[in-house]
Amino acid sequence: MYLKIPLTLSILLILTSNTEANVQIFKQWQQMDYYFPSPAIRQQAINSGNYVPENIIPIDVSVDYRGNLDTTRVFITMPRFTTGVPASLGYTKSSSTYSIIPYPSYDWHSSHGKNCEGITSVFRVAYDGCNQMWVLDTGKIGDIQYCQPQLLIFNLITDKLVKRYRFNRNMYVDTSLFVTPILDVADPGRCTKVKAYIADVTGFGLVVYDLEYNKAWRINNKLLYPYPNYGKFTIAGESFDLMDGLLAMTITKAPLRQDTERSLLFHALASATENSVPLRIINNATIWENDANAMPDEFKVIGTRGIQTGAQAMDKNGNLFFVLLNPLAIVCWDSSTSYKTDNIKILYRNDETLQFASGMKVVTNLSGEEELWLVTNRLQKYMSGSTNLSETNFRILVASIRSLLNFKDKCNGSSLRNDQTIVFPDRNSI
Ligand SMILES: *[C@@H]1O[C@H](CO)[C@@H](O)[C@H](O)[C@H]1NC(C)=O
Ligand SMILES: *[C@@H]1O[C@H](CO)[C@@H](O)[C@H](O)[C@H]1NC(C)=O
Ligand SMILES: *[C@@H]1O[C@H](CO)[C@@H](O)[C@H](O)[C@H]1NC(C)=O
Ligand SMILES: *[C@@H]1O[C@H](CO)[C@@H](O)[C@H](O)[C@H]1NC(C)=O
Repeated sequence: MYLKIPLTLSILLILTSNTEANVQIFKQWQQMDYYFPSPAIRQQAINSGNYVPENIIPIDVSVDYRGNLDTTRVFITMPRFTTGVPASLGYTKSSSTYSIIPYPSYDWHSSHGKNCEGITSVFRVAYDGCNQMWVLDTGKIGDIQYCQPQLLIFNLITDKLVKRYRFNRNMYVDTSLFVTPILDVADPGRCTKVKAYIADVTGFGLVVYDLEYNKAWRINNKLLYPYPNYGKFTIAGESFDLMDGLLAMTITKAPLRQDTERSLLFHALASATENSVPLRIINNATIWENDANAMPDEFKVIGTRGIQTGAQAMDKNGNLFFVLLNPLAIVCWDSSTSYKTDNIKILYRNDETLQFASGMKVVTNLSGEEELWLVTNRLQKYMSGSTNLSETNFRILVASIRSLLNFKDKCNGSSLRNDQTIVFPDRNSI
């Protein structure tokens, strides 16, 4: 009798091993460690409270594929939720001895709010396809706004700053936190006509920056706010409250089912719905310069997933990927279908490695294949101050999208709706 249970389990493992192998751990950490210019500088950072491992949590990933695999740099962000973070942006390589090499250099990060020519705190970055990385800096350490929020564009070949844009005081509020930049490039390969859509997660706003005209405008709408009913997060059995608004965005590849034009898809972290607004509306500066609360009806709820999710990213075929809080699973939704739990398909479940996916990118590798990269960080432990630095807390995961989708072009798999193990906060809403 006793032996039968493991036998059944091992059969299950064989059945699922095909999908298990699709998602690989690129790198994992118990705590984040850095390259410092010298051992003395490292010791000085520790002594002065500028390197406190338990304060550091990675949030986003971006991949700079070029030349060959050995030179590929995998960027990672570590925002300054508080003090003790030696560098807020860095990279690692598969062969790297040092886990994180500060980018573009240690000096850019070492003033800890004193020098606004440097980088203060970065949540997420974006790649524009022209060998440039766009870095969104909140300007804050904890609640203190040391510098204006800014966008920095780095050339990844020379590692030089090519553009800096500081946001004016009327683009942000006291509670602002600019956490996510999403790019729309109108001239691929040149990248002179680029718009950046920026999520203000706790100022509950959307900011659009237009590179061509070098200006920005701010947009308000009720769908950028958190929903109290979804303000409690339970990850792997541990709960915390977080009233975060607009966090994740994606630009559709084609008109959505009910639309005739491309849109920005977005959601607040404390929410269970996905929303959209036509790009034509948010791209028109005139509208928002006159009234930041204009056109409320252009912002629409497109559907509900019944549960919270963090980051999201879309592939070239219009499949949207995200990770649910429950089940801890990578799921997909084919954006040519309606957004509902029947059409959200479970691709890969892992209760351990998917504990809070805060950053996600679709990256085209050197063979022209799309890959899904993500960072997971056990946010629940960080929020309750119970991170145990002797356990694996942080992971960078990578999966080939073709194999995740079982070599199909469109998202397919078992639907979220049919999964009886899921406890939706509000069953009636799905
Ligand atoms: C922007 O919006 C204004 C006001 O609604 C409208 O008059 C104008 O034609 C729009 N511009 C573009 C380029 O769509
Ligand atoms: C931290 O994790 C290690 C390894 O899993 C374990 O031995 C230790 O008891 C944990 N410490 C606490 C305080 O939970
Ligand atoms: C790109 O991804 C595909 C699919 O996973 C893989 O077969 C191929 O080896 C990758 N190419 C490189 C250069 O990494
Ligand atoms: C999608 O997946 C379901 C079950 O997971 C399967 O029955 C169906 O044939 C698949 N559809 C396509 C088009 O592959």
